[in-house]
Amino acid sequence: MKLRNSTLRMQTFVLTLALLTIGIATARAQFPFQPQKPKGPWMDKTLSPDQRADLAIAQMTLDEKIALLHGGGWAELFALFAPDGTAPATRSLGNAGYIPGIARLGIPDLQMADAAVGVTHGSVFGRYCTALPSGVSEASTWDLTMAREYGALIGRELRDQGYTMSLGGGIDLTREPRNGRIFEYKGEDPILAGKLVGAEMRALQEQGVVGDLKHYAMNDQENGRNYVNIKADRRAMRESDLLAFEIGVKDSGVGAVMCSYNLVNGVYACENDYLLNTALKKDFGFQGFVISDWGATHSVAKAAMAGLDMEMPGNDHFGEPLKKAVESGEVPAARLNDMVHRILRSEFAVGLFDNPPGRQEVDPMAGFEVAQRVAEQGTVLLKNADHQLPLAAAGIRSIAVIGSHADVGVLSGGGSAQVDAAGGSAVPPRAGLSPMEQVFGNPVWHRSSPLKAIRAQAPNAKVEFDPGTDTATAARLAQASDVAIVFVSQHASEGVDVPSLTLPQNQDALVSAVAAANPHTIVVLETGGPVTMPWIDHVSGVLESWYPGIRGAEAIANILFGEVNPSGKLPLTFPKSEADLPRPELAHQPPGRPEDMKALFPGVPYKENTRQFDLDYSEGLKVGYKWYDAEAKVPLFAFGHGLSYTTYAYSGLKITPAVPPAVTFTVENTGSRAGAEIAQVYVTLPAAAGEPFQRLVAWEKVQLAPGESKTVTATLDSHYLSIFNADQDAWELVPGDYQVHVGGSSRDTPLHRTFTIKDVEKGQSPPPAGGDK
Ligand code: BGC
Repeated sequence: MKLRNSTLRMQTFVLTLALLTIGIATARAQFPFQPQKPKGPWMDKTLSPDQRADLAIAQMTLDEKIALLHGGGWAELFALFAPDGTAPATRSLGNAGYIPGIARLGIPDLQMADAAVGVTHGSVFGRYCTALPSGVSEASTWDLTMAREYGALIGRELRDQGYTMSLGGGIDLTREPRNGRIFEYKGEDPILAGKLVGAEMRALQEQGVVGDLKHYAMNDQENGRNYVNIKADRRAMRESDLLAFEIGVKDSGVGAVMCSYNLVNGVYACENDYLLNTALKKDFGFQGFVISDWGATHSVAKAAMAGLDMEMPGNDHFGEPLKKAVESGEVPAARLNDMVHRILRSEFAVGLFDNPPGRQEVDPMAGFEVAQRVAEQGTVLLKNADHQLPLAAAGIRSIAVIGSHADVGVLSGGGSAQVDAAGGSAVPPRAGLSPMEQVFGNPVWHRSSPLKAIRAQAPNAKVEFDPGTDTATAARLAQASDVAIVFVSQHASEGVDVPSLTLPQNQDALVSAVAAANPHTIVVLETGGPVTMPWIDHVSGVLESWYPGIRGAEAIANILFGEVNPSGKLPLTFPKSEADLPRPELAHQPPGRPEDMKALFPGVPYKENTRQFDLDYSEGLKVGYKWYDAEAKVPLFAFGHGLSYTTYAYSGLKITPAVPPAVTFTVENTGSRAGAEIAQVYVTLPAAAGEPFQRLVAWEKVQLAPGESKTVTATLDSHYLSIFNADQDAWELVPGDYQVHVGGSSRDTPLHRTFTIKDVEKGQSPPPAGGDK
């Protein structure tokens, strides 16, 4: 089903999401699979994906080529629930996007599902999908093995449901900590985010589905996302935001990259020649296809020639208009073939032609296992005064569990990444929500009950729950209990940014009241990103569990009671106050102009290009901790921070000077519990580089038994030591002294040493970033 224009498309998108969210869509439908009996020389598996793509293209008509460059999305799903209940004449599985294949050539359907933190919209067809902990939780593991498990699980569940492509892999850096989509992303550091998404996408693609990275680039806030013009200099982009994509692309060989809604330096991301052709395709060597975010295509020849390969959804630009542009020569036939080639090579590369997905039951138990493991490794112990944690169940007579629906569930992030709650949301939606709120503001709680999990850990204690809506009642229960565990949360979603870093609904007052009533107060946070903590000095423990997924409560309880020794570290900074941010005020659309998302509603005209506003990234490459270090601001909790129930000592830093240099040091577990320490290596470049702040260049998760020591050796990737010379359009190693700092957090690096890169080495070009080490 094709839609006539952008307005209609967007309206349908919102309506459809609304239908899904309010649960009208309960019908089950069976779709016939496309009969695929591929024959032809392109089915020769001994040929490369590129050769096979070219052989298939040689057989294709112009119309067939054009048909692969755009498709439907949401609209098919909408049609499914037509009043007469008839199934639409489409094979779409009814998720975010669908492009029919070409049966005569065996070209498979592209069935795209949003799958940032698990496969979405399962409930529409009565399917189970694992709700994983959020992306920022995965990032808090700093663990490529965890990232692989995360990606493999999503890939397997997509494949089991017949999907052939994932829309996930979000790695926009946390430049704006109020961004509603931080929960989907992987924090503020380009190397950490890039390595993790690279491992995740490689594992996802190994399951035989096409992966993607998004949203390229610098789609760092939801407010005004369709109209905001990000002004950033090239060096800042290449060394931060774009570096994350560069590493992700190179490490994974990902099949697709989704360009974003916003403009970058005056040009829409989806028609930005520098972003797409120069950086992504030429410099990063990306061989896959560029897919537009939903409704982010704005032109025909301009977009095609700038590097966009696929418009989604709809056919406004890459349908008939593109065909005409090819016929007139405005878009050369060679470029059209390149677009198709990129799509087909991605499909060949993951095995879609040879091994198309067949539907089978998803294994929920396998999903639970991975979800719990990621949550346990990704939960961050922020504070633990006087070793309040872990709780010793045997000695505790009573526990007050307070707030945040902890009796029934754990919170999840909203928008297109929302994974349906198995069995429905544990907390029914509020009444009287507008359609917009139903889609973007309606929190979904997964059925994993912290109260039950805590009771299971402390079977002999009296464990009582108070909803926390009345601070006085909550404080009374806290006072009457040995320990108080307060759950606090902040919902975040695509489409809206959080209004501030202050916990909503009076929860700061709740924590303060409980802490005043009981000195043994532990706070468990369920948030998309950082929040401020005015009560921090008055509580004894703080655990950041993010949105912890379908087994979140079990993971939290295992950490609270010491079944699991926490090892997660923050992939982003928690500021003390919003005044410390590069932009203390969230950049809003200029007053007097309609709010961004309202433009999607029926009756509100969707006008191109009339609401643009500039957002100047004047902080440049000082993203996250680099900003706090450079500006001498003390964060509430630093990047890389995370406590354990044991203690670690660092010693013996040595550097083997070479290009690239190797760093060796020893980590010892000096406590009495086994644990895993994420040892971090930072480097400050020579003064001539003009970057007087450190950058993360390597890390290693070290498993240590009590008393055990291990020697870690990390070879520093020259690319990560380099700066981007915008004048030369090239990376370079600056000669001079490099200071190495090693420790357990960006603000706790007991080991320091310097190595020198001499002039003579300057000419050596750094090896490419990447290689899944
Ligand atoms: C989101 C994408 C998503 C797409 C399809 C857009 O609104 O920005 O992340 O993949 O919709 O659902």
